[in-house]
Parts: sequence; C-alpha cells; structure tokens
Amino acid sequence: MAFLLKSAHIVDPALGLDGVADVLIEGDRIAEVGPDLAAEGAEIIDLTGKYLVPGLVDMHVHLRDPGQEYKEDIESGTRAAAKGGFTGVCAMPNTDPVTDTGAIVQYVKTRAAEVGHCRVYPSGAMTRGLKGEALSEMGDMVARGAVAFTDDGHGIQDAGMVRTCMDYGKMFGKVFMSHCQDNSLVGEGQVNEGVVSTRLGMLGWPAEGEEVQIARDIQIARLTGARLHIQHITTARGLALVRAAKDEGLDVTCEATPHHLFLTEDAIDDTYPTVMKVNPPLRTAEDARALALGVADGTVDAIVTDHAPHAAWEKAREFAFAPFGMTGLETSLALMITHLVKPGVIGYGRLVELMSIAPRRILGVEEVRIEAGATADLTVFDPELAWTVGADGYESKSDNCGFDGESLTGRATDVFVGGMRTLAGGSVC
Ligand code: DOR
Ligand code: ZN
Repeated sequence: MAFLLKSAHIVDPALGLDGVADVLIEGDRIAEVGPDLAAEGAEIIDLTGKYLVPGLVDMHVHLRDPGQEYKEDIESGTRAAAKGGFTGVCAMPNTDPVTDTGAIVQYVKTRAAEVGHCRVYPSGAMTRGLKGEALSEMGDMVARGAVAFTDDGHGIQDAGMVRTCMDYGKMFGKVFMSHCQDNSLVGEGQVNEGVVSTRLGMLGWPAEGEEVQIARDIQIARLTGARLHIQHITTARGLALVRAAKDEGLDVTCEATPHHLFLTEDAIDDTYPTVMKVNPPLRTAEDARALALGVADGTVDAIVTDHAPHAAWEKAREFAFAPFGMTGLETSLALMITHLVKPGVIGYGRLVELMSIAPRRILGVEEVRIEAGATADLTVFDPELAWTVGADGYESKSDNCGFDGESLTGRATDVFVGGMRTLAGGSVC
C-alpha cells in the first residue's frame, strides 16, 4: 500500500524541518520527502493546512488488560490512543495479574498485535506484585519485550529495595520509572494538603510526600548509575530537584500530565467531583505554573497522560472511596495545543520533542524521523479544528475525563503506524 501525503506542514526538530512538503509512504516506510512528489498508484491524501509530525508516543498509559477489562482493554485503550493521535503507548504494569513476569508481557504484546490500533510497549513491575518487597522477573520480562521498569501506582517504600532493583536491573539498560509517594506522609490522603483539603475536610496528600521520594530516587540513581525517570511530576520543588540532577549530569528525566498542567486543586469544590481525584493530586496554581515553565525550558522531558480509565460506578462513590485517575489519551494533544502552543508558551517543535522524540528516546524504542527510510509512524493534526471534549463521545470504555465539556482547538485527523492507516479523517480504522 502506498500513500502520497500532499502539502502538509512538516515539523521534525530532530532534522530541523519546519515547512510544507509532501511525504510518500511505501509499505511500512517513508519512501520520499520533498516538494511536488508524484507516485503512480499511491492513494493521495491532501493535508493542506495540517501538520505532519513523527508519531506521538504516550509513555504512561493504563490499558487495564489483563484483568480489569471492564474499565478498558487493549483494543479500546489503543483505539482511544489512535483517536488522540498516538502511534504508540507504554502500558503500565498494575494489571491483574500484575505484569511482573515474561508471560504477562508476552500476553500484552500478543494481544496488542491481534487487536491493537497502535504499538504497545509494555513496562514491567520493578517488584513482585507491586508490593515493594522482592524483585520482579526483570530479565524474563526484557526478553519478552518490556521496555521499562516501574511500580506505577505505588511508591516503593524501602530505599534499599529501590537500590536492589537498580543495581540488579541496570544491566538490562532499561529506564526505571518512579511513581513517587511516601506512604508515611501520604497515608489516606485524598487531595493536595493545603487550603482545599482543609476547606473540604478531606485528608491531605502533601507535596512533600512526592518530593521526598523524588530526592531519594535521584540519590539512588547517582549511587547505582541507573537511568531514572520521574513519573507525573506535580510540584515546583520536585521540579527543582530534577533540574538540579540534570545540572549535575545525572541521567534523570521527568514527565508531566495535562491534568497537572491545566487543572489545579481549585477544581475540587464542595460538589466533591471524583473525576478530579488523581494520584498524585491536583496541586496549586503556583505548582501548575512552575510545571508549564519546566515544559518550556526543557526540565520536563515528556508529556504523558497517565490515562487511568475507571468504570462510572467506581467514580460515582463518595470521594474517599472513588479510585484515583482520569482518562487522557483523547485530549492530551488538543490541550497542549490550546493551552501552551496557541498562547505562545511553546512552539510546535517543542511539542514534538515532548510528545514524540523524548518518549521514544527515554523508552529506547525506535526513533522516527520524517525522512526517506524511516518507519512510517506519523501523526497528522489540524491545528485550527475547534471541538468540544466529550461532545461526540469517547473511544475509551470509560468517560472519567476531567476536561469534559471544554472547548479545545487542534485535533488529530490522520495517523499511520508502520504505514498502516489507524486514523482517517478523524475516524479510527
Ligand atoms: O491517578 C492515578 N491512577 N495514578 C496512578 O498512579 C495510578 C492510576 C491508576 O492505575 O488508576
Ligand atoms: Zn503513577
């Protein structure tokens, strides 16, 4: 199958590309990039007015499969990813059973190959059962295709256990991704500890509960020489710790979510909206501002969604009993365009670094350049398309989206994964 993509605005900062050209896809590869291309027999797609960029990758997604398919499964989760413009996602291991052996990694890969609408890069647990007590089967998982290790959903409480994981697991060359949460400080915390927790009478989840483990894991990464990636960073002081680690030359990266950038604790009022219950919690406006600055200055390496689908009945419970998490795959790109690119905080080149180049580099998965010979994993979006979140439903099985009803600008229209069309004119194929 061949596609001739005409007149798209191509942005690829890795090649210094920022201008209009045509792209010819033949089979699973880009065959040619240049002006006024022609190709006999290729399907021609006019992309005038649209942007074409290296395929977006979301390196923090909960597909819930195996074991919690009532929330999401690999088919529906990757369908939501394609709708949002992604060509690949990194699946978190807090499945049931936990992804802590090669067999589960193999299941995720096999299932994704059968029913997936994008590539799925499985991550494996650092500790068995995410319990923080014993090593997972790291080598077995890497042999089956795990790209990273994480106990996401849980902070590992014992510093010595983190050291053991890194000392042993670093031989595989994969990144260690930390969900930073000190249980002795966080306890049953529900929302950011401060004004809102006090006003609403809910237990607080303090910034320090996150920052203590960010600091600790940076120290242990220095001690062991392992690669460290801080997941869903939320506080100004946490970001300062990462900035200092980078200045020191450590191999430390971090990610931020659109919900921690564009929502704050002030979204939680006396209607107790459980859709706003996320882990780590929505923080202060000052923290969100610091994150946006970090996105612009390069301290934040990657934008991720932490797409965390939950069934409606689970979120319909009292705040304290509702699970943490909101969906994100279908809104991430549009939120970034609307709130950071359009106002001029970042340009499209930086957007591509955050949502495509850095996630691939950190995960160590194939890099994609808009040039002949590269794998044809491509995202096309219309930067002017205005739409309302949720107005035409969601591809995800769950609808716990914290941005429901918001008017956004910019949306993915076409996606190619290995030369196969997964999104065509805004519809998942
Ligand atoms: O909000 C969250 N939900 N944060 C996490 O770390 C886990 C996730 C989930 O699995 O629902
Ligand atoms: Zn997490």
